[in-house]
Amino acid sequence: MLFFDKLLGFFSHDLAMDLGTANTLIYAKKQGIVLDEPSVVAIDVRTDQPIAVGHKAKQMYGRTPESIRAIRPMKDGVIADFDVTKKMITYFLDTVNKHRSLLHPRLLVCIPSGITQVEKRAVIDSAKQAGARKVLLIEEPMAAAVGAGLPVEEESGCMVVDIGGGTTEAAIISLSSTTYQESLRIAGDEMDEAIMKFIRYEHQLIIGPYEAENIKIKIGSAIPLKEDLVYPARGKDLVSGIPKAVNVTNSEICSALQEPIKAIVDAIERALNKVSAELAADIFSKGVMLTGGGALLRGLDAYISYELSKRITHGTKLKVYVADNPLQSVVLGSGKVLDNYKLLKKICVS
Ligand SMILES: Nc1ncnc2c1ncn2[C@@H]1O[C@H](COP(=O)(O)OP(=O)(O)OP(=O)(O)O)[C@@H](O)[C@H]1O
Ligand SMILES: [Mg+2]
Repeated sequence: MLFFDKLLGFFSHDLAMDLGTANTLIYAKKQGIVLDEPSVVAIDVRTDQPIAVGHKAKQMYGRTPESIRAIRPMKDGVIADFDVTKKMITYFLDTVNKHRSLLHPRLLVCIPSGITQVEKRAVIDSAKQAGARKVLLIEEPMAAAVGAGLPVEEESGCMVVDIGGGTTEAAIISLSSTTYQESLRIAGDEMDEAIMKFIRYEHQLIIGPYEAENIKIKIGSAIPLKEDLVYPARGKDLVSGIPKAVNVTNSEICSALQEPIKAIVDAIERALNKVSAELAADIFSKGVMLTGGGALLRGLDAYISYELSKRITHGTKLKVYVADNPLQSVVLGSGKVLDNYKLLKKICVS
């Protein structure tokens, strides 16, 4: 314990990192968020060195010549390509350190709650090899709950659902620990895939994952909108391979998204059904908090509230809220934990 106290006691100048499937964010004590970039690396295959990381690399995705590969090294919340993840973290830490003159920072990293020891080890090793001196881990739903301002230290239970790019995590938290969690490898990326599939079958148009993400953000929703938004989806014809654009509507995209959205509601329902009656009662009175970029999908809060009210509370409305900055909840929560030594000691998992 003494060693742990010593380790944490040094945290005054160090960093917190949300190493996400879609986005990586870094928080520096006293400064706030100092980096917010897509988790994408463009590698020159001849030298095996990154030529672009983050926003620049994301723009290259699907557009690179044969000598360059744009890679998303994280998949489903965990490291899929160790070497590229290490290069990406090195680049991000170097970017942040340029302004901070901290050569080897201590790093608090968020990880999904359901990951294996081997997957945890990969996060620690990649961050260390990227230059971090010490690496501590906290679970993403706990960080998200703190970032969204939920009272995690109270005995009364609260619920957070973090819908990221690769994972959805539904967690019920009380007394600074997670009482129950459901981790589902269905989130924003699956929504994009559902859109790609739908457009391929309905319009014989092949589109890339970023066009699908664009469509989701521009006109997607969980429930049909009053005004039927239209977007000209661009891709290539399934048969001829010729570039073409097809107008797709909100009602089409909304129906394409039903499957992944339903899987997310099922996970929340499972979590609520598994906790004690007391904790469930706390959540019914406080409501459910949504974080992560997926929470920004139009009407998702209303859809989840409607479905849960129908399935669990038999008509009594269960309130569902979206955090103020859902894309930043996890890193802001980790930042708050960096500032709160007592809380850090309670919730850190390594
Ligand atoms: N306005 C929006 N509407 C719908 N989805 C959105 C919107 N803005 C961002 N997203 C989606 O949010 C996801 C990214 O969210 P976030 O940055 O929280 O994920 P992540 O933390 O990188 O992933 P994970 O936590 O699963 O590892 C992407 O799938 C993105 O398309
Ligand atoms: Mg995340």
